[in-house]
Amino acid sequence: MSTDAIVLLKNDHKEILKTFKDFEKAGESATATKGKLVDKMIELLTVHTYIENEVMYPRVRELLPDLEDDVLESYEEHHVADVLVIELAAMKPDAERFDAKTTVLIENVRHHIEEEEQEWFPQVREGLGRKVLQDLGAEMLEAKKKAPRRPSQPSALKKTIDAVIA
Ligand SMILES: [Fe+2]
Ligand SMILES: [Fe+2]
Repeated sequence: MSTDAIVLLKNDHKEILKTFKDFEKAGESATATKGKLVDKMIELLTVHTYIENEVMYPRVRELLPDLEDDVLESYEEHHVADVLVIELAAMKPDAERFDAKTTVLIENVRHHIEEEEQEWFPQVREGLGRKVLQDLGAEMLEAKKKAPRRPSQPSALKKTIDAVIA
């Protein structure tokens, strides 16, 4: 089975974008459905952010120093999403700002995913090559096993707080 890092990350993106579409289709009154979809989004985003932040970004930064600015921008974009995810995780789906906050999260993450897929991944693929991408993917699959599933888990929360203070 291929463990190409970019293929794995794109599969995650697909799953994340699907929950966004479903949320948008759910309709004004579908509070329970939207609550469940946001729970799913939170889980997918927490795991995905973890493997990118722990494996992909630091390794690319180390191996392809020319892409450092992109990596730093990605950390910031993830950080904005983390803040929204933490707030949403603490919010009831019938809260006044639940839909609005989810919409802003969706807008931010869509933009970030687009940048990764269209601009960043092609440069990473060219710079790292097949073998390194396979190894990175294998490392990410390992990291996935111990990834937090909710932002309230200490390892996820601490990262966000550190980033605010830093
Ligand atoms: Fe990312
Ligand atoms: Fe990503």
